[in-house]
Amino acid sequence: AKLGIVIPAAGQGKRMGAGYNKQFLTLMGEPMLAHTVRLFEQSSYVSEIVVVGAEADVPIIVELVHHHKFDKVKICKGGVQRQDSVRAGVQALSSAIQRIVVHDGARPLLTLEDFHRFLDETEKFKAAIMAIPVKDTIKQVHETGKVIATLTRERLRAVQTPQIFDRAILAEAHYQAVSAGYYGTDDASLLEWMGYPVQVIEGSQENIKVTTPEDLWLAERILAMREA
Ligand code: CTP
Ligand code: MG
Repeated sequence: AKLGIVIPAAGQGKRMGAGYNKQFLTLMGEPMLAHTVRLFEQSSYVSEIVVVGAEADVPIIVELVHHHKFDKVKICKGGVQRQDSVRAGVQALSSAIQRIVVHDGARPLLTLEDFHRFLDETEKFKAAIMAIPVKDTIKQVHETGKVIATLTRERLRAVQTPQIFDRAILAEAHYQAVSAGYYGTDDASLLEWMGYPVQVIEGSQENIKVTTPEDLWLAERILAMREA
C-alpha cells in the first residue's frame, strides 16, 4: 500500500514560550521542521507528505519547502486542536494513499533507521505506535495534590510518534471522534476509544518531542553528537 505522512505542525508552542511556533526555532542552523520533513523526503518508502500548518504560518512553510526542495510535500491548513490538524492532513492526502504515518513536526530527532525498523515491525498491524518504557514512577494525583494511586511502572509506556494506520481506520476514527466531540492527545487514542486494537513498538530515547526550552538544548546536543 502507498504510504503517506501527515506532519501536524500547526501548534502555537505555548510551553516553549518563544512567542512564535517552536518548529521554526533552529537546530544546528536549520528550522526544526526542516529536520522533521527531511527524514521522510529521504525515505524511499514514502510517496507523499502533508505538512499541516497554522494559517499564519503557511507562507513560511511554503518558503521552507521551496528552499529545501522537498518535492513530496503538500501543505494544508490546521485546526484548533492537534486532532483537528491531523484530520485535515488526512483529508489532504491523495486517494492513492492507503497507509498513513502521523509524526509530530516537533519530533525532529527520529532517525531513518528507527523509522524503517518501525515500518518493518508494524507491517502486519492496522494500527501501531512507537513508545518507550517510562523511567519515573508515575502517580495519579488529585487536583488538591493528594495521591490517588501509583501505577505499575512495568506496564506503562511513554507514547511517541510515528504512529501508523490503515487509512480507512484512521479516517473513520477521526470522523467518529469529531462527531462525538471526543478529543485525545494522540491519534491512537481515537482508535482505542472505538475499541480497535493498537500495537506498541519499541521507540527510541532520542526521539524526544521538543516541548520546553530544555528540550531544545537536548535536541541540539543529540544532533551535534550524531554529526561528530
Ligand atoms: N499541533 C498541530 N495543531 C494544533 C496543535 C498542535 O498541528 N492545533 C502540532 C504541533 O505543531 C506539534 C504537535 O502537534 O508538532 C505536538 O503538539 P505540541 O508539542 O503540544 O505542540 P504545540 O501545541 O505547538 O505546543 P504547546 O502545547 O506547548 O502550545
Ligand atoms: Mg499542544
